[in-house]
Amino acid sequence: MDKKVTVIGAGNVGATAAQRLAEKELCDVVLVDIVEGVPQGKALDLAEAAPIEKHDARLIGTNGYDETENSDIVIITAGIPRKPGMSRDDLISTNAGIVKSVAKEVARKSPNAVLIIVSNPLDVMCHVAFEACGFPKNRVMGMAGVLDSARFRTFISMEMNVSVENTHAFVLGGHGDTMVPLPRYSTVAGIPITELMTPERIEALVKRTANGGAEIVSLLKTGSAYYAPASAAVEMTESILKDKKKILPCAALLEGEYGIRDLFIGVPVKLGSNGIEEIIEIKLTDVEQAALNKSAGAVKEMVETLKNLDY
Ligand code: APR
Repeated sequence: MDKKVTVIGAGNVGATAAQRLAEKELCDVVLVDIVEGVPQGKALDLAEAAPIEKHDARLIGTNGYDETENSDIVIITAGIPRKPGMSRDDLISTNAGIVKSVAKEVARKSPNAVLIIVSNPLDVMCHVAFEACGFPKNRVMGMAGVLDSARFRTFISMEMNVSVENTHAFVLGGHGDTMVPLPRYSTVAGIPITELMTPERIEALVKRTANGGAEIVSLLKTGSAYYAPASAAVEMTESILKDKKKILPCAALLEGEYGIRDLFIGVPVKLGSNGIEEIIEIKLTDVEQAALNKSAGAVKEMVETLKNLDY
């Protein structure tokens, strides 16, 4: 393949993302993990599936960074996932240390790459990676909104008994309990769901979306969601690799957009070969803006907490 994507962390999210990237034949994949043998074993296992899955993506597993050199995109999933009873925020200092060291190594070997952060707490980890790698803001982003809106779409399609393909959903804000799903901009075959469902049902779906991660954690008991998170990271990767210029909700560094400054938070962006090529500002109602401000406040509080932590 003429494109190369590195996935850091060969755990559940990382290995699933590697599988999807290879099976869609989007790029060659380098899988990196600190545990000896795991990235090598998973990459070889995935490579051995290639004749059956009919793709020619090359997969390499490694514990170092030499093989990652000149990657077009690096997806960072390294870190620890949530266990039942834990919030994403409980992961903060452990994952900050991991993401900081990883982002530095990545930047040394692939100075022109686009970074997609998946490790949680997502918005805060974007700050950590952004500072550690020194890349311009268009080349550092977080995966959350694509996942959150996919969850919202899933629940809309279940409620209406229609194809998921007919659904569209928008979710803004931080990747946490304060995320801001926008029913007004969420549609079935182009019709806003506000015209199709009662406010009570919409509220129930919005709540389920905001708790979507916790719902999976409580079922799995030993970790957090990974199929949908991997799909979301791969959709972002595809838009960048193919310069598709899809508008997707991603965590981006805001510098005044939506009245928010110096903060990574989920907003609609245009993703092309230069990474974030545009931040799309949509007009919010007072209630929506207040919800976004509240979400931004929660992220800012965590960013401040992080400043006082030694990681
Ligand atoms: N460098 C490389 N890999 C690392 C490092 C590091 N410094 N530290 C940890 N890892 C690896 C672990 O060895 C593990 O294989 O990261 C992998 C994480 O995989 P899982 O434990 O399976 O976690 P996963 O479900 O994939 O979630 C990863 O994504 O969605 C978020 O909240 C989730 O922060 C978590 C991350």
